[in-house]
Amino acid sequence: MGLPYSDKVLDHFMNPRNAGEMENADATATEGSPACGDQIKLFLKVNPVTRVIEDIKFKSYGCASNIATASIITEMAKGKTLEEAKAINWQTASENLGGLPAVKIHCAVLAVDAVRSAIDNYEQEHGLIREKAPTDEKRIRERLKHVINPLTGLDVMQVNFIRSIEITDGIINVHVNMGKEHQFSGNILEEIKERLEPLWDVKEVRVIFKNEG
Ligand code: FES
Repeated sequence: MGLPYSDKVLDHFMNPRNAGEMENADATATEGSPACGDQIKLFLKVNPVTRVIEDIKFKSYGCASNIATASIITEMAKGKTLEEAKAINWQTASENLGGLPAVKIHCAVLAVDAVRSAIDNYEQEHGLIREKAPTDEKRIRERLKHVINPLTGLDVMQVNFIRSIEITDGIINVHVNMGKEHQFSGNILEEIKERLEPLWDVKEVRVIFKNEG
């Protein structure tokens, strides 16, 4: 039995706007949903002078609601400044879609989080942040929230996947509870780097697997 989706949701699901990848994106972000283990990746092209989002694309590994919300949110964000785009929330996205079933709200939240993270990454990389406090373990743990282990669909921060974190002169060592030979070690490595490298004062991110000391 299907969920009661509006025509608009179905339309955006069947004909998603802005779906796909982007080469030479100015910022990207991957977000995972702790509620369902699904993921979405976002790509941004930003005008360096006006800070207007000139292009935006998404790749969803989530459900119909996630695809539909990502589609409408990217449509809403295109042509807006970063500041304006930050104000987009799941409520407006859902309203513009004619409503979402309550059990599917986390799918819209996932899409909104991805847009906000991509904007945040852009701002970090371009030094557009107001407070340049040095990166500490708290910020790193915050940024690694919702990294999903593809094998289990679980949030790595919630399952003590990270053994320890060291920060020395802009170099971050993240020790993880996973062997290098694991089939998803490459995904995890990529995602941890993607989340930490944009931080304004970070020079290098190293992920140390279990058997590497
Ligand atoms: Fe996972 Fe919708 S159920 S994104």
